[in-house]
Amino acid sequence: MKRASFVAVGLLLLVAGCVVGSEVAIEPQDPELVEAGAELYAAHCAECHGSDLQGTDQGPSHLSIIYEPNHHADGAFLFAVQNGVRAHHWDFGDMPPIEGLNPEEVEAIIAFVRERQRVEGFE
Ligand code: HEC
Repeated sequence: MKRASFVAVGLLLLVAGCVVGSEVAIEPQDPELVEAGAELYAAHCAECHGSDLQGTDQGPSHLSIIYEPNHHADGAFLFAVQNGVRAHHWDFGDMPPIEGLNPEEVEAIIAFVRERQRVEGFE
């Protein structure tokens, strides 16, 4: 009996750990990067992902929980911008590669997205 309840508690902790662990606490981002990123995002990403990050009829919301850092790490953003994305999570179609952004600019965009995710929370 005792042993069984230990196991049950252990399982509960495991499950709770997974739930908490899937939402990483996002660190506050460098305000200068965030500001630069906001402009770049508006110019290059908002057309599909929305100026408020909440998506449009052409692309998904970056506040969706699937874009939290554990599921889509910063590298996924750089990869998406450089190579485009084949539609796999949604029905908006493919994302084309986005021309004319260097890695530093993408870094600023990521800082902006992470800051909005941190402040607004996920959907
Ligand atoms: C022409 C429309 C369009 C533009 C412009 C656009 N995206 Fe996307 N993006 C999409 C669509 C559509 C998807 C969803 C694909 C899918 O079904 O998973 C997507 C997905 C993504 C993903 C998820 C990648 C993955 O691995 O699942 C990231 C990150 C992303 N976009 C970042 C950006 C950034 C940053 C910019 C601006 C530099 C940008 N996008 C501009 C349409 C766009």
